[in-house]
Amino acid sequence: MADNVVEKHDLEPDVWSEWLLHRRHADDPAYAQVVQAVVEGYADRVLEGAQLADGMTLVDVGAGEGLVAFRAIDRIGPSLRVILTDVSAPMLGYAESVAVQRNVRAQCTFLRCTADNLKGIADASVDVVATRAVLAYVADKRAALVECFRILKPGGRLSIAEPILQDEALYARALRRRVEDQSQPVDRLLTLLHRWKAAQFPDTEEACAKSPIANYSERDLLNMVRGAGFAQIHLQLHIDVVPSLITSWEVFLGSSPHPWAPSLKQILAERFTPDERQFFEQMVRPTVESGKNVTTDRAMYLQAQRPFS
Ligand SMILES: C[S@@+](CC[C@H](N)C(=O)[O-])C[C@H]1O[C@@H](n2cnc3c(N)ncnc32)[C@H](O)[C@@H]1O
Repeated sequence: MADNVVEKHDLEPDVWSEWLLHRRHADDPAYAQVVQAVVEGYADRVLEGAQLADGMTLVDVGAGEGLVAFRAIDRIGPSLRVILTDVSAPMLGYAESVAVQRNVRAQCTFLRCTADNLKGIADASVDVVATRAVLAYVADKRAALVECFRILKPGGRLSIAEPILQDEALYARALRRRVEDQSQPVDRLLTLLHRWKAAQFPDTEEACAKSPIANYSERDLLNMVRGAGFAQIHLQLHIDVVPSLITSWEVFLGSSPHPWAPSLKQILAERFTPDERQFFEQMVRPTVESGKNVTTDRAMYLQAQRPFS
């Protein structure tokens, strides 16, 4: 199978590389290590569900930096063939450079394609399809799952981890309702919190319905997997309410929760007056730096099998 060519001029940063390589960790090396440890945990759960063995072929859909693919190679060794797909040319270029550094380039194929059109991968040709935090950004999730089914051999396994971000949007919607409720006095902090959250998540029912990151639950994904033809489906929802990993104001300002979300720093610069910025920082910064902020992480893990017949 030939690699889809990624031309050098395609390697300009895009929304995906800006986030994965910079904004996810606010370009802070210490926080980048913290994020790396967290995402490695997610990838390991995906791989536990994948049941890889010697000589198999794994497709990592929306591979990004190659997190899942390279951890799979670490587990199985040189007999594993890995196909890394991504819509982002700079991320494929980055992953390829990592493969070279790790001396595993020969067992990797890099394909530039969208998750709902895995062109270049033949029908019933691979043993495992794994994907992490990718379907969340795909408008046509059903089509992507049908593609996963198409490329798997009969008996092949699908292993997925996806964030469930609906509740973030529900929070933004609740803030909107509260600030628009004329029967209650205007609360300055709530108004600013709403402006912040609404810049990162859809805050109306209509916008949620249209947003790929907010218009699905874990049960919807399960039904789509079933509808694509998969069997032996197992889904787990993990909800972790934990102290926030961010205790630096600079990281809090410079990071954002997903690739389509601007950082708080951008939001403050573009949507707040200097007076509002000062008030917001006065109210929010002490809690961030105290380490008492709590975050709720919702992720679903799903494994399934393409039936033998
Ligand atoms: C949040 S990152 C996750 C990257 C990687 N899977 C990981 O676990 O670190 C989302 C990845 O999905 C890719 N992506 C986004 N939309 C896509 C689409 N429609 N088809 C294929 N890949 C997509 C992005 O380029 C990015 O690499």
